Amino acid sequence: MSSEEKQDFKADVVAGLSASPRTLPCKYLYDERGSQLFEGICETEDYYVTRADLALHKAHLGEIAERIGPNAHIIEFGSGAGIKIRIILEATHPRAYTPIEISSEALAQSVAELSQQFPDLDIRPLQADYTRDIPDEHLKLEPPARHRVVYFPGSTISNFTHAEAHDFLVRMARIAGPGGGVLIGVDLVKAPERLERAYDDSEGVTAAFNLNLLRRLEKELGAKLDRQAFRHRAVYDQDLQRIEMHLVADRPTAIELDGQRFEFHAGDSIHTESSHKYTIDGFTELVDGTGLHSVITWTDPDGLFSMHYLENEPDTER
Ligand code: AVJ
Repeated sequence: MSSEEKQDFKADVVAGLSASPRTLPCKYLYDERGSQLFEGICETEDYYVTRADLALHKAHLGEIAERIGPNAHIIEFGSGAGIKIRIILEATHPRAYTPIEISSEALAQSVAELSQQFPDLDIRPLQADYTRDIPDEHLKLEPPARHRVVYFPGSTISNFTHAEAHDFLVRMARIAGPGGGVLIGVDLVKAPERLERAYDDSEGVTAAFNLNLLRRLEKELGAKLDRQAFRHRAVYDQDLQRIEMHLVADRPTAIELDGQRFEFHAGDSIHTESSHKYTIDGFTELVDGTGLHSVITWTDPDGLFSMHYLENEPDTER
């Protein structure tokens, strides 16, 4: 982290701990250790999301490839471990592939691996925060692709509130451009017990992932705190249709940071991440008014997860 990023991190933590209810931005869960732990979560029995998403890719690959078509410019938001994109790239022979990733290490690694497996693929990596504006000149190709397809698997959209997710879809539409598409994974509403198990797995990987945030506060910001005094909790809010992850104090404790002292009574919590769940209709409503429209939706027989191919209006301005 640069000293500037560290200052932002500290300011965000102070603001979050001063707020009521207390909260911390979920992006700080994903440092190097956090990203490794997240990959560990994806391998647990209880976290069904990654398996269900991957199974949909495999079950409907023919139809997915048909929607993307040949000679497309595939733009992926966040490059991750890259298993799913390999399946897509193998089946589509795109004009180019642009992974957009904030971590330059993660980006370099995925590009190195993909160029090995796809020596003829035109890879145009872009180191950037995909939640910020992406200047169109970074995405222009000469000769241009037949169309652009923004690829956003894994239900990462779940981290956004509905309003944020709607705005994000508007931006994706703009990036996709006229006649372009968005291929997006969306996790579905299901029994609260199932959801809470997925976000509090029996192997304790999600707990370690959440508690890693306190470790970062100590190690990177020099916060004084008792990590033992906090435990991980995942609760499903039926009204808001979202899983919330919290760090809950199980005894009176305090976090000291930057000359400030934040007191916790037993039971007081810090809200660290939300994961919004959708029905198919709910997601279709979210897409309404973004310029995109749903062309086809795929779901598994158990109704765990969904994948959507959304198409942009032909005349949307870039
Ligand atoms: C990366 C946002 C898709 O919400 O399922 C998983 C994050 N946090 N377990 C999700 C997460 C704890 C994950 N997303």
